[in-house]
Amino acid sequence: MKMGSINSFKDQLLSLAKKLLPYVIYSLLPIALLRLYFNPLAFLPSAETELPHSSLITVASYSSYSSPPPSAEKERTFETPCDYFSGKWIPDKIGPLYNGTTCGTIKEGQNCISHGRLDMGYLYWRWKPSECNLPRFEPETFIQLLQNKHLAFVGDSMARNQLESLLCMLATASTPNLIYRNGEDNKFRRWHFPSHNISVSVYWSPFLVEGIEKSNTGPNHNELYLDQIDEKWAKDLDRMDLIVLSTGHWFLHPAVYFEGGSVFGCHYCPGLNHTEIGFYDVLRKALRTTLNSIIERRGGKGSGLDVIVTTFSPAHFEGEWDKAGACPKTKPYRNGEKELEGMDAEMREIEIEQVEAAKKNAIAKRFGGLRLEALDVTKLALLRPDGHPGPYMHPFPFANGVQERVQNDCVHWCLPGPIDTWNEIFLEKIKKWKGQLMSEE
Ligand SMILES: *[C@@H]1O[C@H](CO)[C@@H](O)[C@H](O)[C@H]1NC(C)=O
Ligand SMILES: *[C@@H]1O[C@H](CO)[C@@H](O)[C@H](O)[C@H]1NC(C)=O
Ligand SMILES: *[C@@H]1O[C@H](CO)[C@@H](O)[C@H](O)[C@H]1NC(C)=O
Repeated sequence: MKMGSINSFKDQLLSLAKKLLPYVIYSLLPIALLRLYFNPLAFLPSAETELPHSSLITVASYSSYSSPPPSAEKERTFETPCDYFSGKWIPDKIGPLYNGTTCGTIKEGQNCISHGRLDMGYLYWRWKPSECNLPRFEPETFIQLLQNKHLAFVGDSMARNQLESLLCMLATASTPNLIYRNGEDNKFRRWHFPSHNISVSVYWSPFLVEGIEKSNTGPNHNELYLDQIDEKWAKDLDRMDLIVLSTGHWFLHPAVYFEGGSVFGCHYCPGLNHTEIGFYDVLRKALRTTLNSIIERRGGKGSGLDVIVTTFSPAHFEGEWDKAGACPKTKPYRNGEKELEGMDAEMREIEIEQVEAAKKNAIAKRFGGLRLEALDVTKLALLRPDGHPGPYMHPFPFANGVQERVQNDCVHWCLPGPIDTWNEIFLEKIKKWKGQLMSEE
């Protein structure tokens, strides 16, 4: 029994139709704006998420910013972190760790094989960083390292996409139980792995800061409160050990921005008499507020906290979003075939810059137990135009032949798919941290 198949199929179609409405409304806007309307209509969760009360485990206080002593050969490998940004996708015969039928928590629209996608070539690639090797994901290792911890994914549908990939891979080693669920479309969920007492949560928070998402009943744009953290996830900060933040695409939607209680600008809000300020600086502010709030609330405490910011994952629309073949490629780009540029590059840059700024802030405050790092996936994601659901966001889109219009998702990733690599790199970071910790004990 799949956890996600509780809604009837008809309900899913209805909710999908609602979600796609803005496409129709904005069908005259350029594709650059249109493509951002994937999963645009969110529904505010009706009730508060409650965590089971649990005392925090105290992680040995570690100063993660000092280099480990360069004594043993083994430790020295931790000194030069691999740059996962540069590399290439190379053919890989082994293929994915899991298939869509086994893990029970793949969002329908991303379960490409079960929706009839037949070409399987996209499953047989692995990322080869120029400077190091990226090992295949080892679920047992991940589970051991996370023993007695609470891992939280916070962000938009890309956060969920990455979380579901991780759960599918972990489920091959240990079975998680869904212990909590709330919000429309399963926006807040928690699993528990009884074998190792690991909790894994997902919190819907597309801006990380406080925001009101556009809705049928409310305003026709998002409202962002850039100086306020979104308490829907931040209220649980004290009970998290590891946080993965993933956001970006929602910042491109029309929005009005507030700071200090008043409007200071907007993005694409014709008729509202606010100053257009774009969204780059807004993303910057949202991340600053988020990371600084984490530092303030957790930095001074004895327990450790690790924070990962997954960088922007580019979309791959090649034409109109609702034409057949909107993201038709079936192979990765070769090295040099596609440069990281424009908005994709800018979004990543801002995220990296804010992580670096937050690191400095934490160091200045001598908050050694707090580790912040970017999970720099933008480049490797950019090179995978073949990994999106495309028309297979719907089941069997070509059952009645190729239609003139077919909706495409060229933003999210098929599961299994390239996004599994995000979690391979994630695991390498955790392993590296563990190595640093041990070398300091
Ligand atoms: C998925 O994996 C399960 C278990 O390994 C296997 O029994 C099943 O045949 C696989 N399904 C597909 C479609 O490959
Ligand atoms: C289980 O993990 C939680 C953190 O998620 C921790 O607070 C709790 O103490 C752990 N329980 C045991 C028995 O170690
Ligand atoms: C738009 O805002 C400006 C500055 O706040 C104000 O002077 C002007 O009257 C406003 N125009 C309308 C039509 O509300």
